[in-house]
Amino acid sequence: MESASPQRQALIDQLQLEPHVEGGYFRRTYQSDNRPSLDTEYGSRLRLTSIYYLLTDDSPIGHWHLNRSDILHFFHLGRPITYYLLDASGNLSTQVMGPDPSLGHQLQLLVPGGTWKASCLTSSEDKAEADYGLISEAVCPGFEFDDMTLGTETQLLQRFPQHAEMIRRFTQ
Ligand code: GUN
Repeated sequence: MESASPQRQALIDQLQLEPHVEGGYFRRTYQSDNRPSLDTEYGSRLRLTSIYYLLTDDSPIGHWHLNRSDILHFFHLGRPITYYLLDASGNLSTQVMGPDPSLGHQLQLLVPGGTWKASCLTSSEDKAEADYGLISEAVCPGFEFDDMTLGTETQLLQRFPQHAEMIRRFTQ
């Protein structure tokens, strides 16, 4: 296995991140324990949760998954990350989060609840470039595993056959 570079390993250590089931690394940084929870049709939920989320050269893909909650993404550091978003009607859109608005990078990205999402660290030949991209996510209502579905290739191909290439590229 490739050994982690000082850059990405330092961030993983300093921010105390752990591998995420979707790919990449994360740590929850906030949950709204000091406020009454919300009653939703799926049960009681925290009002808001937040995480750091890191993609690296050795774990560059956030695989297709869907969340019932809205998720706001905030870019922090490193290389751009490309997001692939697939809504319930099968419309696929692409957005790039990154540090440079003049290149069309988004600093914030809203992914509405019910949207399928995959993400990928933008590749780079430049050895001087960061080997990671770091964002935060704010999830409202707060994140619960019951609200998250990891996409399987079979299930997604059946539902969205017109997007076979992207589905195959980003399923585990
Ligand atoms: N994705 C977005 N927020 C969270 C969280 O709090 N925990 C996990 N495991 N995944 C998330």
